[in-house]
Amino acid sequence: MKINGQAYRTIWLAQDGWRVAVIDQTKLPFRFETVTLGSAEQAAEAIRSMVVRGAPLIGATAAYGVALAMRVDASDGALEAALALLGATRPTAVNLHWALARMRDRLAPLAPEERMAAAYEEAAALCDEDVALCRAIGEHGLGIIREIAAGKQPGERINLLTHCNAGWLATVDWGTALAPIYLAHDAGIPIHVWVDETRPRNQGAALTAYELGSHGVPHTVISDNAGGHLMQRGEVDMVIVGTDRTTATGDVANKIGTYLKALAAHDNGVPFYVALPSPTIDWSLSDGLREIPIEERSAREVTHLAGLSEDGEVGTFRIVAPGSGAANPAFDVTPARLVTGLITERGVAPASSEGLARLFPDLARGA
Ligand code: MRU
Repeated sequence: MKINGQAYRTIWLAQDGWRVAVIDQTKLPFRFETVTLGSAEQAAEAIRSMVVRGAPLIGATAAYGVALAMRVDASDGALEAALALLGATRPTAVNLHWALARMRDRLAPLAPEERMAAAYEEAAALCDEDVALCRAIGEHGLGIIREIAAGKQPGERINLLTHCNAGWLATVDWGTALAPIYLAHDAGIPIHVWVDETRPRNQGAALTAYELGSHGVPHTVISDNAGGHLMQRGEVDMVIVGTDRTTATGDVANKIGTYLKALAAHDNGVPFYVALPSPTIDWSLSDGLREIPIEERSAREVTHLAGLSEDGEVGTFRIVAPGSGAANPAFDVTPARLVTGLITERGVAPASSEGLARLFPDLARGA
């Protein structure tokens, strides 16, 4: 995607050809800065501190983290240590474990002296594939938006609602939930996006609004509590969100608050779609509520708000009464029964074991 006329991916090799450059998402939307990662430890810290975030990008960064580790020491022990370090960074997004398993499968059979080159090659391939998967999700999601447009008057606005950030910043490029939105906008379909602010870290207000604004997509940021009200008034035609882990039965973990949007959508007959590449499916799980690990993040993300002061200073401000504690579960699980469909790179599936297995017989087999 383009920022100030320049095309970017979210992760690329630095000019020296071995370090890894990423966009520092903790500084957006106020400053566009890049960070260069020179070790597996730095890659792990970038994931942990959410310099990079979003399930597919977490996986891509971890893959390059393994490559950085192999530059220093490509022994069996160093490979396992890097996989363990990177695997412990964030618990919910399964793309992390998928990417690390793929790196292990590629590197472990090789002689140590072959591993560094193979690791960079595999990480680059994984990134290119992510771009292709997201683009394909965009095409399939565009079909749904076109169907909604067909039921409207010519030129009538289509209102979509999204939660958190599942755009190009959360992936290598294009995004998952935002890919169909970009394609629809580019095709001249008159779309408008309601962007949930997404407390506590405000990925909607900070990142989704920034992305959509940079691409010229009409959008309005709303408080997290406004979506149900807008749905009751008929002002939402479709909800579309991403996911950090989807079970083989179609239960969906995504940013905290997604479940409430799905409940409101269900109550109001608004279609609720989830966009995901197949590496986000955890074929080993069948009960999202019981089995998906939910990340508990620092209470400070709830007690404090990050933002720009009127003097133009970026800072954090306490908003909770001094002395009060706070809890911060970062994700929730939306049961499959509330999901209208899963938009994947191979098409749109019902959120069920049968639906997913029909699209992915090769991956579902034996799960
Ligand atoms: O905590 P984050 O910012 O990593 O959470 C991101 C999300 O919840 C996204 O919606 C999800 O990863 C889907 S991304 C394509």
